[in-house]
Amino acid sequence: MSDGKLKVLKQLDLTRLPTHIAIIMDGNGRWATKRGLPRNMGHKAGCENLKRIIQHIYDLGIKYATFFTFSTENWKRPKEEIDGIFNIVRQYLDEDAEQFVSRGARVVVSGDYKKLPKDLVNSISNIIKKTEKCDKFVLNLAINYGGRDEILMGVNEAIKQGKALEKAEDFSKLLYSKDLPDPDFVIRTSGEMRVSNFMLWQMAYSEFYFTPVYWPSFSEKDLQRALIDFQKRKRRFGSL
Ligand code: FPP
Repeated sequence: MSDGKLKVLKQLDLTRLPTHIAIIMDGNGRWATKRGLPRNMGHKAGCENLKRIIQHIYDLGIKYATFFTFSTENWKRPKEEIDGIFNIVRQYLDEDAEQFVSRGARVVVSGDYKKLPKDLVNSISNIIKKTEKCDKFVLNLAINYGGRDEILMGVNEAIKQGKALEKAEDFSKLLYSKDLPDPDFVIRTSGEMRVSNFMLWQMAYSEFYFTPVYWPSFSEKDLQRALIDFQKRKRRFGSL
């Protein structure tokens, strides 16, 4: 849904956007520390930015977006920080559920979310159910997600089904992301240049973009600049 006020940089070609954009939202902690704030204030600001960027992705007409929200490795953080992140996510899902429905946005999850605290599991199950018929936009939240765990899950499922898989696509169908195309474009904020166990299978042919900007400061304009960069890439998928 566009509110008609969409400002687009002139180099950005709206007819050549990625179908699926995936974002590793990094740098919340450093954003807060730099300002003398507790780390969870960084996650709060990160959540506010997530809302802005989701809206912008939606307004641009990109159909699928995945956000790395909580990794299987993030359990190593102090309990206070983990609880803070979960509260922020739960509040966001509860408060915005109706907005998702009215905009035709479907929420899906990658990750073993049933192992999260019960109130968060309820909020997630609720929004998945509420939005399951929405088909304008798909928001995929990677939460309690690890790429290697996901691949193991797929391997175990294939073994359970007892037949050899013929094509890579057959394996994709056994993963959390079975209803989504692979991400065309992956952005990581905060200057780190690594994949951190994110969508390992799905990123085989993704284009990558790294920016030093901390996630809470990553603006709509930064997103458009990243997309302009994406449009300069020659995607060959192994051919010439
Ligand atoms: C990485 O920054 C960020 C996270 C591990 C949490 C991401 C969570 C949110 C943005 C909260 C909102 C999410 C939803 C879906 C409502 P970091 O803590 O690793 O930052 P640092 O590298 O500077 O320490």
